[in-house]
Amino acid sequence: MTSKATGSITVTLDGSNKSTSLPLLGGTLGPQVADIRKLYGDLGIFTYDPGYGATASCESTITYIDGDEGVLLYRGYPIEQLAEKSDFLEICYLLLNGELPDKAEYDAFHKGVTYHTMLHEQLKSFFNGFRRDAHPMAIMCGVVGAMAAFYHDNLNINDPEQRRIAAFRLIAKVPTIAAWAYKYSIGQPFLYPRNDLGYAENFLYMLNGVPAEEYVNNPILSRAMDRILILHADHEQNASTSTVRLAGSTGANPFACIAAGIAALWGPAHGGANEAVLKMLAEIGDVKNIPQFISEVKDKNSHTKLMGFGHRVYKNFDPRAKIMKETCHEVLAELGIKDEPLLDMAMEMERIALSDDYFIQRKLYPNVDFYSGIILKAMGIPTSMFTVLFAVARTVGWVSQWKELIEDPSQRIGRPRQIYTGAPARDFVPMDKR
Ligand code: SDX
Repeated sequence: MTSKATGSITVTLDGSNKSTSLPLLGGTLGPQVADIRKLYGDLGIFTYDPGYGATASCESTITYIDGDEGVLLYRGYPIEQLAEKSDFLEICYLLLNGELPDKAEYDAFHKGVTYHTMLHEQLKSFFNGFRRDAHPMAIMCGVVGAMAAFYHDNLNINDPEQRRIAAFRLIAKVPTIAAWAYKYSIGQPFLYPRNDLGYAENFLYMLNGVPAEEYVNNPILSRAMDRILILHADHEQNASTSTVRLAGSTGANPFACIAAGIAALWGPAHGGANEAVLKMLAEIGDVKNIPQFISEVKDKNSHTKLMGFGHRVYKNFDPRAKIMKETCHEVLAELGIKDEPLLDMAMEMERIALSDDYFIQRKLYPNVDFYSGIILKAMGIPTSMFTVLFAVARTVGWVSQWKELIEDPSQRIGRPRQIYTGAPARDFVPMDKR
């Protein structure tokens, strides 16, 4: 479906007789948009929206978010239903193709991913170029970008078959790259992916298995990992997805675009927040220190943020945070972890923040990152790997959005403008005259 004209708005420049009528466009759900493409031509003015808080950069059929109602739909399906009833590979098919697969489609897709999980053997030597203490996100940026140096047969973005293979290779290989980045950091040998394991199970096997003994899968952890991957798979035009789209709009190859997305996700204001939440809780140290920390957060001069709280779009609970919190309780119970001080602290932090005017007025609620780190820590995933896991999950969202961009006939290179507030034009002054 494409957007439809729903009316227009007239813009008049005060103090002049210049005005223009801008079309209003409506989609399936969500606010209408004012199509401003002819504004500069008609009135000689730009719009100004730092951070793009009120700017639609594209049309998309993939994910819908209603920030006020706390709604998240993947291709129209509510995240709550998908997290409970689906699995990550089915979500990958849905995000890429727009519909849930039938059995034959699912099996073919599963086979396609399974037979792309291995890396080119020479890519292994890339890891040796990194310091052992390199952050695994640095390795992810480097190795995913380097895939363009190996898979030359799917760099032509205009060939649908090459786009399809690139999508399979990226979705299938990022867990292998991620697991090997972790193994490299702890000096353990890499484990090759196994074709008899599911996606989440294979990822945990490559992360936690060792050649010295038989790997025993824990179905509780695999199911929890699969659900965490589902919750992180896509999220409309967030910072890293917009980065992928901007890179894709120049015609860059898919591996370069996804590497750009990984780099953008790394920031603590975005995907790096899950790691930052654990560091924040560790620094607070004890529930009794929470009030002091909250007062620091409310002191603007401290520049302290409550990591895992707040969101550009959600001004209500992030639906993923609710599911993550429930999953946290389930996983800890199933693992027999009776009391997890970090969870106690997080829940007390949430209780205090949600009753404090500072957070209520600013509509700051827990987001997807607030509880995810606690589950991952309980599952034995090291903190340095939290954002890497987010990147593994979000790769299918980035690829799906990139594919939609390339297949959109109206797409053109992204090139925002600015308000220039620098020096007016002036002549060069020779050194001896300054
Ligand atoms: C993700 O976009 C997506 O969809 C992202 C994501 C995805 O799936 O792709 O959902 C994943 O990135 C989740 C967000 C993870 N980041 C964090 O948890 C870091 C902490 N959160 C903040 O940095 C912040 O809330 C952002 C970056 C998430 C949102 O920033 P905005 O929209 O620019 O909001 P803002 O900074 O304008 O905040 C409004 C007010 C400000 O106070 P005032 O200037 O009005 O006095 O709220 C304050 C902010 O200072 N504020 C916070 C806060 N978040 C906002 N104060 C304390 N702690 C916080 N966490």
